[in-house]
Amino acid sequence: MPIIRPAQASDLPAITEIFNEAGVGTTASYALDPVSVDDRRAWWEQRTAAGFPVLVLEDDGEVVGYASYAQFRPLAGYARTMEHSVYVTSNRRAAGGGRMLMQALIDYARGRGVHVMIGVVDGANEDSLAFHRRLGFEESGRLPEVGRKFDRWLDVVFVTRILDDTP
Ligand SMILES: CC(C)(COP(=O)(O)OP(=O)(O)OC[C@H]1O[C@@H](n2cnc3c(N)ncnc32)[C@H](O)[C@@H]1OP(=O)(O)O)[C@@H](O)C(=O)NCCC(=O)NCCS
Repeated sequence: MPIIRPAQASDLPAITEIFNEAGVGTTASYALDPVSVDDRRAWWEQRTAAGFPVLVLEDDGEVVGYASYAQFRPLAGYARTMEHSVYVTSNRRAAGGGRMLMQALIDYARGRGVHVMIGVVDGANEDSLAFHRRLGFEESGRLPEVGRKFDRWLDVVFVTRILDDTP
């Protein structure tokens, strides 16, 4: 039975492997070089110290996905706008895990007054675009050729979902 829980230090090797598979190995993120466990430890420590969530999807004792968010841009006026990331290991997709992770992230965000969640998705990442549409996100902007990976220019799509109706 899959569960969602906060990431612990012992999850960092699995998180590193999942990120290196999809985040570095494909255009799901524009990271170019594989990251180390120490790199992910620094990332996890910084996120948790700042009060941002790092959640894992665990199934039968194995970490098979994770999700996190942090403030979209640094200036204070963006304090209630978060950019998220969500990854499920390739052989565990299409089984509801991504939805579980995003729902938990959204619940966490709602509890902290987050107004908007933003996904920054590669324009050709049809899986992620379809996934986000299914979770109620809409495409709010496309920035042509702002990324470069695998020797080609990449368009990025911002997908947004407004979580609360505060005026
Ligand atoms: C995007 C990703 C996290 C989705 O995770 P997942 O576990 O496969 O998604 P789920 O099985 O929970 O699907 C949730 C919903 O999205 C839909 N969906 C997911 N992928 C889809 C696809 N390729 N085409 C159409 N619909 C899709 C599902 O049908 C499901 O709908 P439902 O719950 O209403 O039945 C996963 O594909 C992934 O890790 N991709 C690589 C990393 C990545 O691109 N991350 C996003 C970076 S912005």
